[in-house]
Amino acid sequence: MTDNKKLLAWVKEMAEMCQPDHVHWCDGSREEYGRLCEEMVKSGTFIKLDERKRPHSYLCQSDPKDVARVEDRTFICSQKREDAGPTNNWMDPNEMKAVLRNHFKGAMKGRTMYVIPFSMGPIGSPISHVGIELTDSPYVVVNMRIMTRMGKKVLDVLGDGDFVPCLHSVGKPLAEGEKDVPWPCNADNKYIVHFPEERTIWSYGSGYGGNALLGKKCFALRIASVMARDEGWLAEHMLILGITSPAGEKKYFAAAFPSACGKTNLAMMIPTLPGWKVECVGDDIAWMKFGDDGRLYAINPESGFFGVAPGTSMDSNPNAMLSLTKNSIFTNVALTPDGDVWWEGMTEEIPTVLTSWLNERWTPESGKKAAHPNARFTAPAAQCPVIDPAWEDPRGVPVSAIVFGGRREEIVPLIHQAFNWQHGTFLGSAVSSEQTAAAAGVVGELRRDPFAMLPFCGYNMADYFSYWLSVGKNNDEEKLPKIFYVNWFRKDKNGRWLWPGYGENCRVLKWIFERCNGADNAETSPVGFLPQKGAIDTSGLDISAATMEKLFEIDVAGWLDNVENLRDYYKEFGERMPEKLVDELDRLEERLKNWR
Ligand code: OXD
Ligand code: MN
Repeated sequence: MTDNKKLLAWVKEMAEMCQPDHVHWCDGSREEYGRLCEEMVKSGTFIKLDERKRPHSYLCQSDPKDVARVEDRTFICSQKREDAGPTNNWMDPNEMKAVLRNHFKGAMKGRTMYVIPFSMGPIGSPISHVGIELTDSPYVVVNMRIMTRMGKKVLDVLGDGDFVPCLHSVGKPLAEGEKDVPWPCNADNKYIVHFPEERTIWSYGSGYGGNALLGKKCFALRIASVMARDEGWLAEHMLILGITSPAGEKKYFAAAFPSACGKTNLAMMIPTLPGWKVECVGDDIAWMKFGDDGRLYAINPESGFFGVAPGTSMDSNPNAMLSLTKNSIFTNVALTPDGDVWWEGMTEEIPTVLTSWLNERWTPESGKKAAHPNARFTAPAAQCPVIDPAWEDPRGVPVSAIVFGGRREEIVPLIHQAFNWQHGTFLGSAVSSEQTAAAAGVVGELRRDPFAMLPFCGYNMADYFSYWLSVGKNNDEEKLPKIFYVNWFRKDKNGRWLWPGYGENCRVLKWIFERCNGADNAETSPVGFLPQKGAIDTSGLDISAATMEKLFEIDVAGWLDNVENLRDYYKEFGERMPEKLVDELDRLEERLKNWR
């Protein structure tokens, strides 16, 4: 299949260490996918959904001890601890390799090692990169076939080129004659480990999502962020959307929000303003490189959506629902008696009986969730009704605006615009979101999540800030995307949302669109440019002038508290913290103190 010497030698070495019974090179064909799915149905890992209701789709129930990404077991093993920085777990790479070798030794006994060649990004795009994942999980193989371009065609473009080696095992070898369980894992020994200098990933013990589908968070964000820094591009936790005005003019925006802030919803939204259209390039990750014209071009390195199911409905995100009507894999959702899937928030009417994600009989009286809160769908992006026509363009799409955002009940306006790239970098570094009652932690407490990259930056976050500053310095600011910050979540004194959100967010996108065209419809405030009164199009929307005013009110005391909080946060980065961002903070403080 390949004569790539590095690849052949690496597969041999890893197979010697992991001792699988068989090695299978994945060709990525539909037949191979179908065969693996059938094998998993036979072994009890997959349940085939009713062919008439959900064609070619499967349900999988994981071990209850393996249901999410494990940030406390995720490591950045750079040579020096300072290069991982205070926001990452670190261990010396040699020590870590020794620990992991012990675990991986014989880890695949009784299993098959699958070799998955995959491309992050359209095959052959100058922005794309190749990875090879070795895994003993057929569940990973079939998910990778949806989430990435994979198989023989990737080996063909790889030739004798370089790739990112990604080793994965569920960490559950089988003894002679031992019967397998539906979801093998090693719950007490999970390691999601990145070696940034070597650009290598070793993941052990978990079969779930970002822990195991190594193209996604591990490669496309943690390792790619390091590659991007070294090579002058950007690997970001951002959706990419295309927006077309009624006059037929099209622009692309990229947006970074922490989890539970509606990234997938925004990426596929249906605008309420007549004549406007939004199309989706990607819902989670953007790789952006500079074109010869000095503009930033983005690709979605993935080819599928690995979305959170609960809360997704025909009301909240019809385009996501329509993406997963067939050829999809569901993990930890509930099963209906007629062989379809269900999750909390999917329908207004609650089913009377289900099989829960724990494979137990469930009724509304059970007092438990039918689907796990982090239950997922894996669906091909090509099935999205509003997938952008250029989503696989190897050149990427030109990005006009970068949007940051978070969930803030108070203080942060519906939208503001950065004065320039440096100020925009400051806004990215200040991204924060309030904990909701659903999540662990104190309700209302601010979680700092700079650039929405807190769990995904593969190096020292302060160096990442400096890198963003250098991108502004080394490029023509005129051609760089304009930077904005949105907050859909501001509330009034009675705890009611001030802004309707969802499809109405297109009104805010419209203002961004106009600003990118140089519209003179902003006023200067201490925190950035705000829309002039009336510049946000509220036609056809039942919202009072007083509410609109409230959405943009500058609460000076609240902002000054924010400044103090951020100042403390910056101190955690010690001397690596770029002075320019501390200057931005000082200037913000000064502007606030002199305001009106
Ligand atoms: C994701 C995440 O799964 O950000 O996309 O956690
Ligand atoms: Mn994400």
